[in-house]
Amino acid sequence: MNSFEIDPYEKGWMVASGIILIFFLVAVAVSAFYGFSLPTHAHVEPSRPAEPGVVQREPGRYDVYVRAQIWSFAPSEIKIPAGSTVNFYVTSSDLLHGLILERTNINVTVLPGRTAKVTARFNEPGEYRFFCHEYCGLAHHLMFGKVVVEPRS
Ligand code: CUA
Repeated sequence: MNSFEIDPYEKGWMVASGIILIFFLVAVAVSAFYGFSLPTHAHVEPSRPAEPGVVQREPGRYDVYVRAQIWSFAPSEIKIPAGSTVNFYVTSSDLLHGLILERTNINVTVLPGRTAKVTARFNEPGEYRFFCHEYCGLAHHLMFGKVVVEPRS
């Protein structure tokens, strides 16, 4: 073997590395043109300006607009009657936060300039706590709130 010959085994790995490189370049190009999706079922869209609060759309259906900011959620206490279906529209006014709501499948990353829509139904009366689960600074651990589901009268 002269010094310019490449071992077939080595050549195989060079080709494989090239293919992997091209694959990742294509992946980067695709994500640049078509955006990226977060590892959640949340529907993320550009923020629509909405004041934080609870809006009843019809009996048993609520829209809740939640704003995350260092280091609190507004509103931090959300009251709804049992049996309600709630759409949460969650956004951040400063930096990356998260929202996880216990006893539901709600678990979203909250980005400034974006609104994540997640839905849950609350059949059981009680308190459902929610927390920020993305580290966001000194008082991250104080960033929480609760959904209070009241028994139907
Ligand atoms: Cu907000 Cu951690």
